[in-house]
Amino acid sequence: MTFYDSKEGVKQYINMAKDYDGRELINNFIPYLDKDSTVLEIGIGPGKELDILAESFKVTGSDKSKLFLDLYIEKNSDADLLELDAVTLDTNRVFDSIYSNKVLHHIKKREMVESIYNQARILTDGGIIFIRFGPVRVAKSMKV
Ligand SMILES: C[S@@+](CC[C@H](N)C(=O)[O-])C[C@H]1O[C@@H](n2cnc3c(N)ncnc32)[C@H](O)[C@@H]1O
Repeated sequence: MTFYDSKEGVKQYINMAKDYDGRELINNFIPYLDKDSTVLEIGIGPGKELDILAESFKVTGSDKSKLFLDLYIEKNSDADLLELDAVTLDTNRVFDSIYSNKVLHHIKKREMVESIYNQARILTDGGIIFIRFGPVRVAKSMKV
C-alpha cells in the first residue's frame, strides 16, 4: 500500500497541503490555452487545483488513489473523474492539455518515459503538457 492509498496518508496530505492552492502556478498556465480547452489533471489529490482549473477550462480529474477520487466526488457529484495511473494513462479519451503538479516525482525514473509517451498519446494535435515536479526528498520521507 502506498502513502496515498491509506486513509491516514490521505488525511496527512490534506492537512499538509491545506494552505496551498496552486493558483499562482495555474496563472502561468492559463494564457497558453483557449478558454474552452479540455484539461486532464493527473494526480488531483484533494482537488484544489482541479477546482481552479475548472474556472477556465473543461476539466477531467484523475488520480491513482481511489480515496482521493471518492472524497472529491462526494463534494462535486457531477465531476468528470477517471481512475488513472500516471504511467499507463489507460484511457481512450484525448485532451487539449494535461496538467500535473507534485505527482510525477512519485514514479520511477524508468517509468517517466512511458508516462510522457502516454501523455503525448492522449493529447490532441498541438496540445500542451504542463508538469511541475515536487520535492523528491519529501516524497521519500512520507510514511504512514
Ligand atoms: C503530492 S500529492 C499532489 C496532489 C495535488 N496535485 C496537489 O498539488 O495538491 C501526489 C498525488 O499524486 C497521486 N499519485 C501518486 N502516484 C501516482 C500515479 N502513479 N498515478 C497517478 N497519481 C499518482 C497521489 O495519489 C496524490 O494524489
